[in-house]
Amino acid sequence: MKVALAYSGGLDTSVAVRLLQEKYKADVITVSVDVGQDPKELKEIAKKSKKLDAIKHVNVDARKEFVEQYIFRSIKANGLYEGYPLSTALARYLIASKLVEVARRERADAVAHGCTGKGNDQFRFDTTISIKAPRFRIIAPIRELNLDRKWEIEYAREHGIPVPVEVGKPYSIDENLWGRSIEGGVLENPMQAPPEEIYAWTRPPVRAPAKPRIIKIEFENGVPVALDGRRTGGLELIATLNRIAGEYGVGRIELMEDRILGLKARENYEAPAATVLIQAHKALEQLVLTKQELAFKQVVDQAWADLAYSGLWFDPLREDLDAFIDSTQRRVTGVVKVELNRGNSRVVARGSPYSLYDEELVSFERFGFDQRDAISVIKFHALQSKILRKRTGG
Ligand code: ARG
Repeated sequence: MKVALAYSGGLDTSVAVRLLQEKYKADVITVSVDVGQDPKELKEIAKKSKKLDAIKHVNVDARKEFVEQYIFRSIKANGLYEGYPLSTALARYLIASKLVEVARRERADAVAHGCTGKGNDQFRFDTTISIKAPRFRIIAPIRELNLDRKWEIEYAREHGIPVPVEVGKPYSIDENLWGRSIEGGVLENPMQAPPEEIYAWTRPPVRAPAKPRIIKIEFENGVPVALDGRRTGGLELIATLNRIAGEYGVGRIELMEDRILGLKARENYEAPAATVLIQAHKALEQLVLTKQELAFKQVVDQAWADLAYSGLWFDPLREDLDAFIDSTQRRVTGVVKVELNRGNSRVVARGSPYSLYDEELVSFERFGFDQRDAISVIKFHALQSKILRKRTGG
């Protein structure tokens, strides 16, 4: 049997390679997908794969697709789930899709992933695979054999598998261009504050530069196109912003998250660029969309994020929502300035050719319109409350 395994080089997937060989008698092809994670790690992956006697390793560069088909959509939808800028969630659909492509090309008999039976990622992998390639058998050894982390670490030691987790730092970390998620270890106690060692992209706010910095982001049709006046592709813009905002300690997120299975989980994220870009994007929408559009879009955004989080990316509703969202984004063009200051980001200025703001009308300093016109409007305001009060007395 030939199995294509989504391989990250982490503990779960490294153990999975050996288990597939030993317990499933399979030849393993490891597949890594570049979604903007640490390039050093990607290089290590190929070496680890060889060490684990995989018959082949395939790396797929999916960064451009990740930015254009997932991150950009998420920015337009202000993609947040319970305050989490969807990152791991989005990448899973793409990784699973690439895994299926490679498995087909290599004429594999099955596809495999290292998800446990407790998390969300299994939903995203399994749904994507079974929608795109229903005939592939899905093997998830950690879930099928009901293994826990302690068992895995032990097994890894006994089988000479390079253990990437250090003793005392048994974190499960997932990383892509849009964010970094850290779970496990002491973080599993919600009363325990996240230790500094979990962070890799952000400086502690107290060690951020003392002087605040203002950055300028330009948007076209809802997506960022320039940073501080420099036009770049999305990939470069996001990587640069991760660096800058991270230096100011922006984008550390601590959450009690409701997983798909109903489990509450303590989650920590680092997402400097995502934090700033979603904040800036919302600020621009406030300037150019009507009150009615904003209120309705909030509901749509929420539904979008729920689908993306819950393993339902391929539900046709997601595309329907994207169609609505894209229609609103035709006017989301303009510039937003954000101040970065010791762990905080704050919108300080915004402008757009489609602005619905009318300074002349709203200004304290100008006439704009005859204020006495407001009197007749107010006469009808709360009309039904006035009538009700009359009927019921008092
Ligand atoms: N809770 C986040 C999500 O469901 C992050 C999951 C992180 N996955 C991991 N294997 N460490 O998207």
